[in-house]
Amino acid sequence: MSNHVSFLGDKPVHRIGFGAMQLAGPGVFGPPADPDAARAVLRRAVELGVDHIDTAQFYGPDVVNDLIREALHPYPEGLRLVTKVGATRDDTGAWLPGAESADLKAQVEQNLRSLGVERMDLVNLRRFERDDPTRQEPALEDQLGALAELRDEGKLDLIGVSSIGAETVRKAIDLVGIGEVQNAFSILDRSDEPVLDLCREHDVAYVPYFPLGSAFTGGPAALAADEHVSAVARKHGVTASQVALAWLLAQYDRLLLIPGTSSVAHLEENLAVLDIALDQDDLTLLDKVEPKPVGH
Ligand SMILES: NC(=O)c1ccc[n+]([C@@H]2O[C@H](COP(=O)([O-])OP(=O)(O)OC[C@H]3O[C@@H](n4cnc5c(N)ncnc54)[C@H](OP(=O)(O)O)[C@@H]3O)[C@@H](O)[C@H]2O)c1
Repeated sequence: MSNHVSFLGDKPVHRIGFGAMQLAGPGVFGPPADPDAARAVLRRAVELGVDHIDTAQFYGPDVVNDLIREALHPYPEGLRLVTKVGATRDDTGAWLPGAESADLKAQVEQNLRSLGVERMDLVNLRRFERDDPTRQEPALEDQLGALAELRDEGKLDLIGVSSIGAETVRKAIDLVGIGEVQNAFSILDRSDEPVLDLCREHDVAYVPYFPLGSAFTGGPAALAADEHVSAVARKHGVTASQVALAWLLAQYDRLLLIPGTSSVAHLEENLAVLDIALDQDDLTLLDKVEPKPVGH
């Protein structure tokens, strides 16, 4: 995959990484039915050249980070582990947003411990302004300040931001400098285009989550149902999911994919997207895809 390298901050990474959220049990809570199969997906990903894994201690909680450590530690050189902080889970699996500075620091420590590393390559601050604009969140300055202190202490290299609008991204760039923006974006939901533009303008990596439409809302079924996606898939002899991922890669050379899957077959299919070259006719047709936002 040597032709397909981009950058996370100043770190070279392949353009297709792996999103590990699908490795937890249903609702991203508790263990998966088959932990051996989950570890096999992780090992196969690295074997195929994946060097960017996106995770979170709150996936499980702990379950996904434990699987990553069990499957891959000691980690191969150059493997970039990226996590996110800003939420916790209660006993029922409900997501509790809005972490204060001390909580964020504790969450970074939990990630370091469960992944078995001394330093994270990147930590995303997950905000909740898009999930619930009425919610009072801790001040952005304080949250990013806490992560910047950990960066100074050598606990993390890069700070990222997740689930935020253009105005907040601008502030984050000014406050601490950022290594990535991780927001929901796909061919079915292009509402984040202003943030993608901002990333292009500032030369910041853009990492779309829900690139296939999200397992929470039926996964890639809506892609296959779209006549334009299906037509391009037929033309190239590939799947609708592969077209959706190839379309994303064509949007920006610092867009990094982290498609999530619990299946080796889907993993291999997703990585094969690097070989698909969409032409201008394909992109024009794909512009006509009817938006079906999946939420954040
Ligand atoms: N920052 C945030 O707030 C946030 C939120 C959500 C996710 N994320 C990150 O983003 C990553 C990607 O998001 P995601 O996993 O939710 O959504 P996604 O990648 O859009 O879709 C995952 C769904 O697609 C299926 N799938 C994957 N590859 C497929 C293929 N080739 N053919 C058919 N189905 C396929 C998966 O099922 P199978 O398991 O059956 O393949 C799963 O149902 C996550 O893993 C996580 O690391 C971040």
